[in-house]
Amino acid sequence: MDFSKESIFTEARSHKKFDGQPLTTDQLRSIYELAKYAPTANNSCPLRIVFVNTADSMTRLAECAMDFNQERTRSAGSAAILAYDVAFYEQFTTLAPHMKQPPSHAEWNEERLTRFALANSNMQAGFFIAAARALGFDCGPMGGFHSAEVEADFFDSPTWKFNCVILLGNGDADALHPRAARLSFEEACRVR
Ligand SMILES: Cc1cc2nc3c(=O)[nH]c(=O)nc-3n(C[C@H](O)[C@H](O)[C@H](O)COP(=O)(O)O)c2cc1C
Repeated sequence: MDFSKESIFTEARSHKKFDGQPLTTDQLRSIYELAKYAPTANNSCPLRIVFVNTADSMTRLAECAMDFNQERTRSAGSAAILAYDVAFYEQFTTLAPHMKQPPSHAEWNEERLTRFALANSNMQAGFFIAAARALGFDCGPMGGFHSAEVEADFFDSPTWKFNCVILLGNGDADALHPRAARLSFEEACRVR
């Protein structure tokens, strides 16, 4: 296990080519067991994950990818499809027993539920990538998929909505373009 800041941040890349080796189910579980501690509003935990871990399922996932992502997806042995559950509030009895009066999310319209679930599941998605990297796995985050196809073929609940795919495994560093710049502290931050 490697929790160095280099392996999680400064030396980690978004990989686009993998060696096809799948993770074990225990390894997939170990990623979730770290990622689940991400903070979310009201501890709502709206992230849902479908792990794709057979050659047949990876082939089908690649078919759901936009053209530019198909070869990239085919190169990986494992992937996590990250979804958000717009019915996240149904778990509040378990997840937020501290709330005397849980907010009435059931009365929210779909747009408000989506915004809340997406924002909080993206917080969890960042932790998911950090967790996978901390355990030594490379990640390839990708949004370019046909979401209706992914939802039809991989999800069994109508309240789970597609967000993105994280390819998992051993990335090929030689296939990467040079790291692109990031905004400087002065550009992106203000200290008041
Ligand atoms: C939400 C999200 C969606 C992305 N979608 C794609 C994609 O569809 N295809 C792709 O090749 N890379 C995709 N990327 C990867 C980004 O291009 C990459 O993270 C960014 O350029 C930084 O690269 P680096 O981490 O190697 O520095 C996506 C990344 C994120 C976080």
